[in-house]
Amino acid sequence: MILLSPEWAALLYLVAAVCFILALQGLGKPASARRGNLIGAAGALVAVVTVFLSSKIDNLPWILATIVVGAAIAAPVSRRVKMTQMPQLVALFNGVGGGAAALVALLELSHSSSPWSALAVAFTVLVGAVSFSGSCITFAKLQELMPTRPIVFPGQPVVLGLVLAGALVSGGFVVATGSFVAVLVLLALGLATGVLLVLPVGGADVPIVISLLNAFTGLTVAASGLVLGNILLLVAGTLVGASGTILTRAMASAMGRSVTGIIFGAFKGGSTAGSTTVSDRPVRSSSAEDVAILLGYAQRVIVVPGYGLAVAQAQHTMAELAETLEAKGIEVVYGIHPVAGRMPGHMNVLLAEANVPYEKLLEMDEVNPQFKTADVALVVGANDVVNPAAKTTPGSPIYGMPILDVAAARQVVFLKRSMRPGFAGIENELLYEPQTTLLFGDAKDSLAKVLTAVKNI
Ligand code: TAP
Repeated sequence: MILLSPEWAALLYLVAAVCFILALQGLGKPASARRGNLIGAAGALVAVVTVFLSSKIDNLPWILATIVVGAAIAAPVSRRVKMTQMPQLVALFNGVGGGAAALVALLELSHSSSPWSALAVAFTVLVGAVSFSGSCITFAKLQELMPTRPIVFPGQPVVLGLVLAGALVSGGFVVATGSFVAVLVLLALGLATGVLLVLPVGGADVPIVISLLNAFTGLTVAASGLVLGNILLLVAGTLVGASGTILTRAMASAMGRSVTGIIFGAFKGGSTAGSTTVSDRPVRSSSAEDVAILLGYAQRVIVVPGYGLAVAQAQHTMAELAETLEAKGIEVVYGIHPVAGRMPGHMNVLLAEANVPYEKLLEMDEVNPQFKTADVALVVGANDVVNPAAKTTPGSPIYGMPILDVAAARQVVFLKRSMRPGFAGIENELLYEPQTTLLFGDAKDSLAKVLTAVKNI
């Protein structure tokens, strides 16, 4: 039974689209991100309910059953996922979105009445399939179900070229003839393209590819909006496509890389895997008490958080240490690198969890000139984002990436568990510099010991 007129449905779709725009605006700042997320979810709910109330729906029990099964899988997975595993969850959800749009378009082919709608079907099937299989590979890489290094085989660019050419030809067939066989071939070639595109991407670049595939899914959804004549899908897909593209470019430039270099770099022999050999040169390590004295007698401390802070879940202890130092009249700020951790805004989210005031989080451009006036740069579980190889070693996987200039501080203290390198797999010369001190151990344990010692000064 249809309960809503097309006019009411259009109005509610407009409400949902406005919710999505407000959600994106809210997600732009840590302070309003939670509200933005809720507004976006409310918009999605309005959209789904409107579909049920405004159209004649066949197979209702099947549709409701699928919604229940999907929600029963996704809700506990999302609640339980660790913050450090968020990128692979995003990859998985994104891939499922692209795959779903491709399947819907596949079924819509029989209803397409013009070459334009057949073109939209072909586009949706191809890009949705690329997004699905590419996202599955990124998920497997990040979950370490397969090697994270770039995987290349002889002749791979030629195979990719042939597959793409085949996809174009079968896409042409779909548009010209509306053939169901041709669209199935297109689907298979799209799946192969996704795998071939993502296999050569390695190491630090994988999360950027997730964002790129996210943009692809947005385009797929927008195209399926055209196929189904649904304005909301068009708006929502365009928003996802545009924001995914902006995010991809922002992440790539924060890492000093180009998007084409990331995707096609491995074909030219470049690798982002780095080497994981660790040299046995001496370093200066010290106790928590020594670090507490360094901090307790400083006037200005800059904390540089990184991936290890997230692994150790040490944000609350870190915040308590900062408050204790501030109570002693020591100025403490945090230097936030745009790609510290494993996802955009990772450090902001962690520190917000520990109620660190936003104004204490300084972005790279703002904090870098301040290191020369800092008595101590306290590097907590960060490595690549402070590695001078990014400036000094052409050919290094991180060469060209802007870094936090901790070497300019009077003393640099690293909190890490071992001499193992960070994500890019390369040594950090700063660990061997005379002004550097290492406090080995899990960041949470180390910070707790330093905190006790600072309180006793
Ligand atoms: P990393 O370079 O990965 O270094 C993390 C450090 O934390 C390591 O030195 C590790 O040393 C230490 N660590 C791990 N667990 C720890 C624990 N429980 N306690 C104490 N220390 C611990 O991290 P980063 O400096 O944040 O750099 C991020 C990297 O990820 C960059 O290469 C970046 O390009 C890449 N990446 C980030 C993003 C986004 S958007 N954030 C996206 C793509 C790629 P030990 O093992 O010795 O403890």
